[in-house]
Amino acid sequence: MNITILGIESSCDDTSAAVIRNGYMLSNIIASQEIHRKYGGVVPELASRAHQQNIIPVVDTALRQAGIEKDMVDAVAFTRGPGLLGSLLVGTSFAKGFALSTGAKLIEVNHLHAHILSNFIQEEGKEKRLPRFPFLCLLVSGGHTQIVVLRDYFNMEIIGQTIDDAAGEAFDKCAKVMGLPYPGGPVVDRYAKEGDSRAFRFSKPGIPGLDYSFSGLKTSFLYTLRDRLKEDPQFVEKNIPGLCASLQQTIVDILTDKLMKASVATGITEAVIAGGVAANSGLRNAMTALADEKGWTVHLPEFRFTTDNAAMIGITGYFKYLEGMFTTQDVAPVARFDDRCNIRL
Ligand code: KG4
Ligand code: ZN
Repeated sequence: MNITILGIESSCDDTSAAVIRNGYMLSNIIASQEIHRKYGGVVPELASRAHQQNIIPVVDTALRQAGIEKDMVDAVAFTRGPGLLGSLLVGTSFAKGFALSTGAKLIEVNHLHAHILSNFIQEEGKEKRLPRFPFLCLLVSGGHTQIVVLRDYFNMEIIGQTIDDAAGEAFDKCAKVMGLPYPGGPVVDRYAKEGDSRAFRFSKPGIPGLDYSFSGLKTSFLYTLRDRLKEDPQFVEKNIPGLCASLQQTIVDILTDKLMKASVATGITEAVIAGGVAANSGLRNAMTALADEKGWTVHLPEFRFTTDNAAMIGITGYFKYLEGMFTTQDVAPVARFDDRCNIRL
């Protein structure tokens, strides 16, 4: 029997719809909102308005590309949170309406859970080795930086997380200081390829355990620029590649250092990365190096599954469907789940 899931993602500034059948992706349509670029960050009101404009054409295209009629959808899975409330409301309301009119089941998905399970998306003709439990996930996005132990699809524990900024935020904020466009992460990644990662040194946090901190790095970056600009007003323009390469290397070192500690603490040597920063070439190279040097089994997600997309919502919805984890029409979106406790599924 076929199980067909329509996934809907609208937590931030990407409107996305995807069709997953029996764990395989049939379509994954993403409408990114360019409007935020000129404001240097996501403007919540503009995001929810753009979601309203995009959602119907995006879903329509996803169904058509998958060759699926509306009444063939067994369940509609949507992002319930965390995210921007106004944005989440659009996807949630759409999903409820779709379920009501077609008789499809309704499945709520935690956005972070979906980022992690994106590593399980399969595609016809592209067979790949799927992660095996238990494994560690380094979840790195614009809003989160966490080390999660996965013992099962629904049994996960956050064993380390940032106490201040997220890794993506560190990329974006430092990029902004250099006058680079938003979001800064991919731009820093591009420039870093041309620069020397040892050109500059920035401070690394000294906090114990498996938690992260990136606010000190941001300050250290800011102070370096401030001091060097006093000597040479063109300092930033002249040193963008070196600054980007050194910044990226520092962030990657901080991330992998705690991941290695997590491996020692848990005895787990299989790892995945997920979230927007999982697209970073420096982090991907560092993970490959861990696999080579330490004999870890490492899974790197495809680029299109690292940033926000509905295929990851669909695959999470598929696993929840198999367990009968459905939700009802009175479900409401949530901007935040309780941080310290385990991911609410
Ligand atoms: O997961 P995501 O799309 O949205 C959130 O849920 O936050 O992640 C977006 C973040 C942004 O901070 C962006 O700068 C960062 O991911 N990012 C990158 C790269 N591509 C996206 N950071 C570093 N290198 C990249 N190549
Ligand atoms: Zn995300």
